[in-house]
Amino acid sequence: MTDATVDSDAATALRDKAVDELRAAGTIVSPRIEAVMRTVPRHLFTPGATLDEAYQVYSAFVTKVDRHGVQLSSVSAPQIQAMMLEQARVQRGDHVLEIGSGGLNAAYLAELVGPDGAVTTVDIDPEVTARAARLLAGNGYGHVRVVTADAAEPIPGVGKVDAVLVTAGAWDIPPAWTQQLKPGGRLVVPLRVRGLTRALGFTLVDGHLESESSKVCGFVPMQGASAHQEELLLVTGTPEIGLRFDDGLPENPGLLDNAVRTPRVELWTGITLGISELLDTLQMHLAIALPGFCIMAVDPDLDTGIVAPANRSFALAAVEGGSFAYLTTRRTEDDKHVEFAVHALGSDAGSLAGKVAGHLRDWNREHRGGPGPVVRVYPAGTPDDLIAGGRVVGGRVIDKVHSRISLSWPPA
Ligand SMILES: C[S@@+](CC[C@H](N)C(=O)[O-])C[C@H]1O[C@@H](n2cnc3c(N)ncnc32)[C@H](O)[C@@H]1O
Repeated sequence: MTDATVDSDAATALRDKAVDELRAAGTIVSPRIEAVMRTVPRHLFTPGATLDEAYQVYSAFVTKVDRHGVQLSSVSAPQIQAMMLEQARVQRGDHVLEIGSGGLNAAYLAELVGPDGAVTTVDIDPEVTARAARLLAGNGYGHVRVVTADAAEPIPGVGKVDAVLVTAGAWDIPPAWTQQLKPGGRLVVPLRVRGLTRALGFTLVDGHLESESSKVCGFVPMQGASAHQEELLLVTGTPEIGLRFDDGLPENPGLLDNAVRTPRVELWTGITLGISELLDTLQMHLAIALPGFCIMAVDPDLDTGIVAPANRSFALAAVEGGSFAYLTTRRTEDDKHVEFAVHALGSDAGSLAGKVAGHLRDWNREHRGGPGPVVRVYPAGTPDDLIAGGRVVGGRVIDKVHSRISLSWPPA
């Protein structure tokens, strides 16, 4: 037996194990997606990775980082690829545009559309497209079209496609993505709204996009014309607290100048959560309900203990006037649950803490364990009364550069 044969048998076993795990977790449900993920040899698209690295179910294989260590390109984790392929509902004969190339996902798409379909994969980075083209051609997928371009603009020669699959983290929906979709076409995109990223599966209906699926995920950032940076507000009077705002800073951030001089209000809510329970709908509920929603991060090297979030790099938070509040947790006595508290500092800390705790109770009663919000995307400039037929009750509309994004809870 040659080394290559040994490798290939080991690879097949690891690939089957990964697919079995994804089926057991409910990530892979469609037999066609199961078949392509068992067939296409992932390790041949991750040269430089060991077989174990290539078949880690929840880890991407990073192929490029910038000089600050920020990841710019990767072959996405099997779990993410399976999840988004399920969301895209690609059929035989479909024409598909993939934004962000690695080679592997385009090979899966080529298998799914079959000989009567077509796949174009686009990347802004010529090193990435050169690598993807080489790997695709070398593994029997030379018919996939590989294009180097900023996919914020329409891709020449693509026309209207049945599905656009975006595989970089987007903040906005450039008009080109919707314009390139056939009516009823699907757009799957990891979209950041209010600092929270969800892989959203949209359908194009009557000129706007309407979400039908939403999954928690993380992605390398979109580059080029549609790149967007969150804004950071450093709380004055203490060195360690940063508040990250995704859709603009509060109108008058100076009002927070003396917030850390006030005693910390701590409001324990009695609301408990299983340690492995998902926070997905809680995050979205607070992002929709609180106008000053943000994410708090604490520099561990400068921590003075003024704030005490359970997770120092990601705490759900909100600013209102001269106060800010954040969520934290502590283990309950059985050690299997955590209890939520709201901490707040500032001139109206007590009132803000009470307000945030009230939203926590609303989530507990109305959305816990239920579906996430429906996300609808309209072109910038669409009047309010045309957004979801003017029916965004208890929801929120977020204005981006190219789009207006409405978040609203489905009727109970
Ligand atoms: C996670 S990787 C793609 C993974 C790939 N689809 C796979 O097979 O697993 C994301 C890619 O998006 C690319 N990208 C970022 N901004 C882009 C843009 N504006 N247009 C096209 N590609 C972009 C990056 O260069 C990076 O290679």
